[in-house]
Amino acid sequence: MITKTVNRLNTAFKKEVHEGLTSELKYLSSKYIYDKKGDKLFQNIMAMPSYYLTDSEFEIFSLHTSKIAALFEERSGFDLIELGAGDGKKTKILLKYLVENNAKFVYKPIDISQNAIDSLSVTLAEELPGLKVDAEKGEYFEVLERLQQYHTRKKVIMVLGSNIGNLLHHRAIDFLTQLKDIMNEGDLVFMGFDQMKNPQTILDAYNDPEGITEAFNKNLLQRINDELGGNFDLKAFKHWEVYDPETGTAKSFLVSLKAQDVRISAIDLSITFKPWETIHTEISQKYNDAIVTWLAEESGLKITKSITDAKGYYKNYVFIK
Ligand code: AVJ
Repeated sequence: MITKTVNRLNTAFKKEVHEGLTSELKYLSSKYIYDKKGDKLFQNIMAMPSYYLTDSEFEIFSLHTSKIAALFEERSGFDLIELGAGDGKKTKILLKYLVENNAKFVYKPIDISQNAIDSLSVTLAEELPGLKVDAEKGEYFEVLERLQQYHTRKKVIMVLGSNIGNLLHHRAIDFLTQLKDIMNEGDLVFMGFDQMKNPQTILDAYNDPEGITEAFNKNLLQRINDELGGNFDLKAFKHWEVYDPETGTAKSFLVSLKAQDVRISAIDLSITFKPWETIHTEISQKYNDAIVTWLAEESGLKITKSITDAKGYYKNYVFIK
């Protein structure tokens, strides 16, 4: 049985679940929301009128396709690397344009969800048969090192959807710094940042009355039940969202509605919840030009351009080294 004890925390998921749920203030990483069910729930979120982020970035990609393509195109060809590609809803507008204009490039989508990578590969083969795709499953920080190999032609690294907002500023700076370190002269980063705005608009985007966002967050508990032999009672937790307009941080919690015990057999862990005890699940940081400029400066990057939507809700920035 010694082996079993040693291997108890033998995956990042097990390790992080153990760490987060034995912490004084409990937390779970939002990156583990994304499996087949989580991907579907996120697609449902993107389809909600209150989740304006997708529509805003879709508008930017639709109205400025040729401008964005011109930033990326290079006579010798380029590698278009997308971190957190998901279902590629916005990227496909650009990909279609590039393919139709005979651009020389390879599209390399990377996502933490194997399900997202598989579905995206299928839909791209159907919708854009002429496109060269080299998809990969992986996590941001883990794939960065491997991306260093892409140095024979220009690299364009895209991070859309305000995915960077899941990282607290110091981790965003770590991430941007690591991006800078693998960039060569001429490479660029194209990244979407959701902007600060009326706090009610932001709160509404993460607090839908239908409970889609609630189910999305609770998929963390579902995955622990399914994959780690947990016995979370999903009905005994309530999703709670707060937005701080001073810091621009939206924070999600699952709040325990009663005193309860939970057992997670695969990591041999029993945890107790007091009534109203919280599990912090996600941050979705909001930005303005001053914050993005500061992040760039701290990371050794320069902003050369930005494109926003008509409402000014959302902005894509171009960074060079
Ligand atoms: C995909 C991480 C950008 O934080 O806005 C949507 C995820 N969470 N609704 C976000 C999410 C709740 C989303 N990101």
